[in-house]
Amino acid sequence: MENQQECHGMPRIGEQATSFTAHTTTGKISFPDDFKGKWVILFSHPSDFTPVCTSEFITFGHMAQEFEDLNCQLIGLSIDGLSSHIAWLRTIEEKIRFRDMENVEIKFPFIDDVSMKVANLYGMLQPSESETKAVRAVFFIDPKGIIRAVIYYPLSLGRNFDEIKRVLIGLQTIDNFSVSLPADWRPGDEVVVPAPQTCEAAKERMADDSIKHDDWFFSLKELPKDKVEEKLYEKNN
Ligand code: BEZ
Repeated sequence: MENQQECHGMPRIGEQATSFTAHTTTGKISFPDDFKGKWVILFSHPSDFTPVCTSEFITFGHMAQEFEDLNCQLIGLSIDGLSSHIAWLRTIEEKIRFRDMENVEIKFPFIDDVSMKVANLYGMLQPSESETKAVRAVFFIDPKGIIRAVIYYPLSLGRNFDEIKRVLIGLQTIDNFSVSLPADWRPGDEVVVPAPQTCEAAKERMADDSIKHDDWFFSLKELPKDKVEEKLYEKNN
């Protein structure tokens, strides 16, 4: 693997995703160039053949089509080599049953990062937690290659997949409807209308009956679930 950029600390929200090439279980990838036009969830695992990671990987594999329906490519990584990845994915498919999931084939790319280069580029190695295993990082990268959200979990805590999907849907809703989303938002809930930028706009806002405002800066409006889903799934399919 060669890196196209030096490591300047961990990538942050709003920055262009750091580029790299890597070998994966589906072949060599050039990131993010190979995925332009798609959302990407780039996530790391501590290690192959460990229980929490196995429960997460089977869940990612089980939900892969749901992410694909949202024009989102999953890409996994751990500091293990391709032989280990391939053996682990085969074991998951052939032997592992978790909740209602079994015989799950993992089709998305899984990066060989034995050199730890990608893990270092993306701040996935957090030495106070472990010097040799990546933490459970999740990077949400938009179709222009911009990092839009990042979540980190420690080694011993499995991720919340409802939340990962909610964040992706939330980011796509923000982009498509020019709104912000309040605490715990899910499709169908009210959305936040951006605060007006002029006194005149504030007056107009207060007179707009389609918008619920407790005060000029706190305005909510309806955004029906079917409208959100129609836009996201129509656009992505
Ligand atoms: C696990 O996936 O089970 C795990 C991996 C590394 C440290 C702790 C737990």
